[in-house]
Amino acid sequence: MKLLLFGSTGLVGRHALELALEHPAIDTVTAPVRRDSPIQHRKLFAPLVDFDALPGNAPWWHADAVICALGTTMRIAGSEQAFRRVDHDYPLALARLAREHGTRVFVLNSALGADAGSRFFYNRVKGELERDLGGLGFDSLALVRPGLIGGQRDEFRFGERVAMSVLGTLGPLLPRRWRINPADRIAARMIEAAVSPLPGTHVVASDRLT
Ligand SMILES: NC(=O)c1ccc[n+]([C@@H]2O[C@H](COP(=O)([O-])OP(=O)(O)OC[C@H]3O[C@@H](n4cnc5c(N)ncnc54)[C@H](OP(=O)(O)O)[C@@H]3O)[C@@H](O)[C@H]2O)c1
Repeated sequence: MKLLLFGSTGLVGRHALELALEHPAIDTVTAPVRRDSPIQHRKLFAPLVDFDALPGNAPWWHADAVICALGTTMRIAGSEQAFRRVDHDYPLALARLAREHGTRVFVLNSALGADAGSRFFYNRVKGELERDLGGLGFDSLALVRPGLIGGQRDEFRFGERVAMSVLGTLGPLLPRRWRINPADRIAARMIEAAVSPLPGTHVVASDRLT
């Protein structure tokens, strides 16, 4: 199968890329990036793209499945508008193009609490993306909703480190849905949803990602 993977340079996306390259059912991985990919592999094509002007005629939009693990933080984005562009507008634009080119399966790295009606901006943006993707008519739409993502980051994120240390200490005392979700576990669930898609829209909740 042909997999189209977005966010392949991120924490979850890097794990998804590794798993996809090893997976016997996946023949090719196209992983569009905004700067050169550090990974080279015979199954991998990583074209440089401008996410504000996606190349609508590229042949790789027609894939068997899309996995999307794009995202930023409010601190990096600098404003709500800039955050929304990366966490909502880019994923929706790439999903539209993939759908228009006949791709039937879409797997999104969303977030625990995603809710278009939420009063919290982050949860609302994630929920609006889930809602808008639901309107595109994919045969299979998997919404993977981790809580705090665990793993080795290149950059230092103070808030996440504090939360990680608290949740890590409380560990097994916490309800499963509040525990840390390791990035490799999330990636494995996303690959599974892409390779063996379930019909319709379904949520993979954080308690299945521990
Ligand atoms: N952090 C958490 O605990 C947490 C919890 C729940 C859900 N989530 C969500 O899970 C998803 C994946 O998280 P993660 O921690 O794996 O993300 P991450 O490590 O921050 O990686 C994000 C990916 O998005 C790309 N990206 C960011 N800004 C971009 C831009 N302006 N244009 C194009 N590409 C851009 C990055 O590319 P570059 O390498 O080029 O920057 C990278 O590939 C995100 O949607 C996040 O909101 C996170």
